[in-house]
Amino acid sequence: MSLLLTGIGELTTNADAADRTATLADAALLIEDGRVAWVGAAADVPAMLTDRESTHGGRENSAHPFSWRGDVLSPNGAGDGASAAVEIVDVGGRAVIPGFVDSHTHLVFAGDRADEFEARMTGTPYAAGGIRRTVAATRAATDDELRARLQKLVAELHAQGTTTFEVKTGYDLTVDGEARLARLAAEVTDEVTYLGAHVVPEGAEREAYVDLVCAAMLDAAHPHVRWVDVFCERGAFTADESERILRAGADQGLGIRVHGNQLGEGPGVQLAARLGAASVDHCTYLSDDDVTALAGSETVATLLPGVEFSTRQPYPDARRLIDAGVTVALASDCNPGSSFTSSMPLMIALAVREMGMTVGEAVWAATAGGARALRRRDVGHLGVGASADLVVLDAPSRRHLAYRPGVPLVRDVYRRGIRLS
Ligand code: NIG
Ligand code: FE
Repeated sequence: MSLLLTGIGELTTNADAADRTATLADAALLIEDGRVAWVGAAADVPAMLTDRESTHGGRENSAHPFSWRGDVLSPNGAGDGASAAVEIVDVGGRAVIPGFVDSHTHLVFAGDRADEFEARMTGTPYAAGGIRRTVAATRAATDDELRARLQKLVAELHAQGTTTFEVKTGYDLTVDGEARLARLAAEVTDEVTYLGAHVVPEGAEREAYVDLVCAAMLDAAHPHVRWVDVFCERGAFTADESERILRAGADQGLGIRVHGNQLGEGPGVQLAARLGAASVDHCTYLSDDDVTALAGSETVATLLPGVEFSTRQPYPDARRLIDAGVTVALASDCNPGSSFTSSMPLMIALAVREMGMTVGEAVWAATAGGARALRRRDVGHLGVGASADLVVLDAPSRRHLAYRPGVPLVRDVYRRGIRLS
């Protein structure tokens, strides 16, 4: 059966090539086989259904091809139309947007670092070394404990409108342990990233650890992952180490992502652009040369304002990047250290309030931008043929995502045309 969402007060499709932030008023959207089959004005629905029936069902010239049976609009005639029945859902003037694409998370871990957060709020700076605390807790957890935590977080993401998400390893930092985290992550998403190069673990010798990340650990994680990532930052990995690790992953067919320029200016952004990374994430401290390098590349700048919220760093300047022609994505970076939130609506509110983005740009960055950062064409938009992943907001306009921060506005979530919540 097909599903028709009608009564959409404001529809964001991200499918208008001329204006990526355009919306449609009084719209409807038809879903067939989990994909968007038609998008248009609600007023055009009867003609559209009649056309489709005459094309697909051979009922040309019928004066009244459809009639209501309860909430279901079915073709008239002798029992030949069951497969063409259309379920209608009237969303009552609410806004509909594509499901969020959260292209940067670290969801497989154990433990909690709320004490570090509290200390930061009274002036203690964020330090990458805190990662090692989560590593110790994660190593001590069983598969079932990690899986239960992961599933709870996935439910949290879905409830907040996220329909596609990436998950990184990086909280074990041993050969078997990183493979275990990759395997568990692959149970919940196709977008798994190998982040053996998160930090050098306690007690390890630097050079030997980089060798391990490039060889045995990569081989062990490889069956479960699509991407390789490195934390290229003072206190984590140098430019040379990062390049070696990223090239080792790329040689095994993995796509490249980079954590760069989070805690200060550094080589991460330019390395990412030079290696053709799909995305460089954080981009909080950028030189003019960094912005120029990104603008001339295919690399998406993924901004993670949950980190600045939670570490009291200055927010990245999205306006500067967009004005320079850089493609910007927003993601949550959900992790227990620097940003323990899975809320894409919060990222949109922060981007609009603190980073110079318009609401339209922020919604695009949290949906289509995330899809570009994952090099996906099937999600992040609601053009015909796209996966029917969408959110019905309990609001008349997407503006409310920034205008009403902290309010649960995600009403219904559909993934591949199936309602999740
Ligand atoms: O993306 N920057 C590196 N990794 C995470 C933080 C991890 C942690 O503090 O546990 C991030 O912010
Ligand atoms: Fe991260």
